[in-house]
Amino acid sequence: PRRRENKFTQETRDMLSSMPKKKVRWMLSDHLYQYQNFWYRAEEIQGILRMQRNFKALDSDLIISTYPKCGTTWLKALSFAIINRHHFNTATSKEHHPLLTNNPHLLLPSLDYHYSNDQNPDLKCFSVNNRLLSTHFHLEGLLECIKDSKCKLIYICRDPKDTVISYWHFMAKLGPKNLETSSLEEFFEKFCEGVVGNGPFWDHVLGYWKMSLQFPQKVLFLRYEELKREPNHHLIKLAQFLGYPFSAEEENEGVVEEILKLCSFDHLSNLEVNRNGKMAVRKAEIECSAFFRRGEVGDHVNYITPAMVERMDKITQEKFLDYGLQL
Ligand code: A3P
Repeated sequence: PRRRENKFTQETRDMLSSMPKKKVRWMLSDHLYQYQNFWYRAEEIQGILRMQRNFKALDSDLIISTYPKCGTTWLKALSFAIINRHHFNTATSKEHHPLLTNNPHLLLPSLDYHYSNDQNPDLKCFSVNNRLLSTHFHLEGLLECIKDSKCKLIYICRDPKDTVISYWHFMAKLGPKNLETSSLEEFFEKFCEGVVGNGPFWDHVLGYWKMSLQFPQKVLFLRYEELKREPNHHLIKLAQFLGYPFSAEEENEGVVEEILKLCSFDHLSNLEVNRNGKMAVRKAEIECSAFFRRGEVGDHVNYITPAMVERMDKITQEKFLDYGLQL
């Protein structure tokens, strides 16, 4: 890991003091700041400002963009395995693959994290050919950096009811141990209001959805639920989009299935690195296992009431009504 600049720059401090802010109690930082209509932690504001000034995407860049807890870890693993499959053997039983000993997040640089720590971070990748990068930033925040580039974006979204449950569990693990965990009701309410990290969820999704309709060669829009339901079909689509299509021979040899098995929830979550490993994230060290909980569709029914389901479905319908998007 590179040296971290813990202090905020004067520019960041000036910007922060001019932004709307809200107190939250489930995070290490205790405020969220609103920038371009989205809510971020102070470190992320510093990251986004620096990224907007300094990051210019290369034509060959592949950027995994997600709202948190929508399947980032899975999509990172799958994309990494696809684009590097001629260098690393994907069969889980055969030999060393970086995914067997590294948490997927550590195999590709996160723009948000790296720019919050550094003006000009080293975005060197494990990936052999294209740079495979990731971000949780909203699309508008990224536009200036990608507008002159032929880079591609891969977005994944998920039913917000499962997303909020996943997010709440994650925050409970990530949050400061000495602080009381926010109740699910409180977190759910803030999520519906959009005042959680990278929120509002619906605006985040819509930004990428609209661009995927307008520029389907530029943005691939995936859904967690569809990837679960028809993994082979979507993996083939993903590989084509990334520019690494499977040959007929590879399909016959079972390479698609090998990659799906390598990156499956059961396989990744049971690896030693993901069971007991830790990774440094900002001021905290988090357990790699925090990124693997249940990995199922519809888990919200175990946590939220029918009234909460109705409330969220109503928001989703209203927000997406004019855009032909259903989650
Ligand atoms: P749950 O909390 O519902 O289990 P992100 O990677 O964006 O942080 O999202 C985390 C969610 O994806 C968690 O959902 C996690 O369990 C699930 N997940 C992680 N790895 C996965 C995999 N390989 N396949 C399917 N789901 C996975």
